Amino acid sequence: MDMDVEFDVHLGIAHTRWATHGAPSPVNSHPQRSDKSNEFIVVHNGIITNYKDLRKFLESKGYEFESETDTETIAKLVKYMYDNRESEDLSFATLVERVTQQLEGAFVLVFKSVHYPGEAVGTRRGGPLLIGVKSDHKLSTDHIPILYRSCTCCVSNVLYCMFPSRMEQDTCHTLFAEDKKSVEYYFASDASAVIEHTNRVIFLEDDDVAAVTNGRLTIHRIKRTAGDHPARAIQTLQMELQQIMKGNFSSFMQKEIFEQPESVVNTMRGRVNFDDNTVILGGLKDHIKEIQRCRRLILIACGTSYHAGVATRQVLEELTELPVMVELASDFLDRNTPVFRDDVCFFISQSGETADSLMALHYCKERGALTVGVTNTVGSSISRETDCGVHINAGPEIGVASTKAYTSQFVALIMFALLMCDDRISMQPRRREIIQGLRVLPDLIKEVLSLDDEIQRLAAELYQQKSVLIMGRGYHYATCLEGALKIKEITYMHSEGILAGELKHGPLALVDKLMPVIMIIMRDHTYTKCQNALQQVVARAGRPIVICDKDDYETAKSSSRTIKVPHCVDCLQGVLSVIPLQLLSFHLAVLRGFDVDFPRNLAKSVTVE
Ligand code: G6P
Repeated sequence: MDMDVEFDVHLGIAHTRWATHGAPSPVNSHPQRSDKSNEFIVVHNGIITNYKDLRKFLESKGYEFESETDTETIAKLVKYMYDNRESEDLSFATLVERVTQQLEGAFVLVFKSVHYPGEAVGTRRGGPLLIGVKSDHKLSTDHIPILYRSCTCCVSNVLYCMFPSRMEQDTCHTLFAEDKKSVEYYFASDASAVIEHTNRVIFLEDDDVAAVTNGRLTIHRIKRTAGDHPARAIQTLQMELQQIMKGNFSSFMQKEIFEQPESVVNTMRGRVNFDDNTVILGGLKDHIKEIQRCRRLILIACGTSYHAGVATRQVLEELTELPVMVELASDFLDRNTPVFRDDVCFFISQSGETADSLMALHYCKERGALTVGVTNTVGSSISRETDCGVHINAGPEIGVASTKAYTSQFVALIMFALLMCDDRISMQPRRREIIQGLRVLPDLIKEVLSLDDEIQRLAAELYQQKSVLIMGRGYHYATCLEGALKIKEITYMHSEGILAGELKHGPLALVDKLMPVIMIIMRDHTYTKCQNALQQVVARAGRPIVICDKDDYETAKSSSRTIKVPHCVDCLQGVLSVIPLQLLSFHLAVLRGFDVDFPRNLAKSVTVE
């Protein structure tokens, strides 16, 4: 595509496509069109699961398809429905609403058409869509009432208005700037896309249809159902543009790794009192008693967020004395996992929009479980749809490979565990120990980050290797999984996180003098077992690089190299042990010449199944 083309238009739609159907190519790019004269064009984020049936139907009506995308069926379907409309004054919003009734799957759509000049219509189901609103002038309202098509009380409904004389009342359902001109609207899936222009946004709900015409925004729904909020508020985001700029760093990922001393403080800010050893989580206070009475905790997530669940499972089990399951959202759904009314289900998600996690949330809600969101994105689907939750407040994370969100999720889950046992006398010494560990954590993170040069040198020795094995157990198994994921994601090297307790059951066969092995050995209750694993690796001529406590001379003797990290309370040590691996993956990727922030084939927010 020629990137130098300049457009001079009042309204435009575009999309950075995440390829689900059809390879990335010009013909599969969005907008997709209804026909060669571009009568209707559409951009789409999501998957249409019944697109084959729709395509067959449209082909039988003489439509010829140009692309391999599911999206093209939408563009053609909208034209088909327009050409076969029963009345001349069909509005664009109603047309879009009718189209979406034919669609199955998950979608966020924005349409434009020559038949509705100057108008754009956006809608969502199962994916995020927000509208940024920018105006220097006073806006007509800060709550936009929904226009319900089938609501008889809503006589001002522009779609099927039975009382034309009362049409002026539309204005109360419409957002506009009071000087009636200077307002800009931005449709986007993520707030970081619009923050450069405005911090005022409206989050749409599933099946809302938002239409922008001549500087006016209206939001439509077919009918009002129980529990629906009849208006959408304009919210002010706290995110600053500079928060999503790279500053002095070469990539967002590097910036985010180095932000961790501050991001974990932000997670704890106003919540942990280090003087009286108390924890307050405002988003859980109305539900904590119910959570304390539950049958079990289920932590559900994908990717790095799943690893935050694995990392904190043990301390959650210890402090809550409840059974804790940690589940990958996709597998949890595949198994039709039994969920009960007295279960408490946690959805851990940086973006709050991951499709699998969101579907698992719907699944658990249907079964009556209490749902808790642990997200980094205020206003995200998961934060809105859960009964209660904790915002991790790590600040916007842009790098596709998650780093600071992981350590903040880790800390947030530990704060939850501390809250669960705050009135248990027998737990108080342990609680105090952990809370005092949280107090020193930011300084210890800084100390680990000062190892950057040393880790860069290590990366220079490893970057041409094909594979890296990462071994550990107990609190650090999650670090192994997370470190291996970071390496896979951005360096494209093979890497595997191995539970050291399973070494003899297979992975040991991979060890020889050439295979790069990283081991995590910390002074906790698994220390002796980890020493055994180290000896087993050394006995097979392995030359392990060991991440260990800084005064652990014993381990250093058997290692070909050590990365020495400061000591912290056992259940928090995983926050420190993961950082060398974040840094290592970053340096490996740079040395291998890859774009650290935007790894091939991966997306930051996976809003499709
Ligand atoms: C994608 C991202 C990962 C992230 C995972 C879960 O795969 O690339 O960095 O861990 O999704 O995302 P979530 O937003 O739910 O934490």
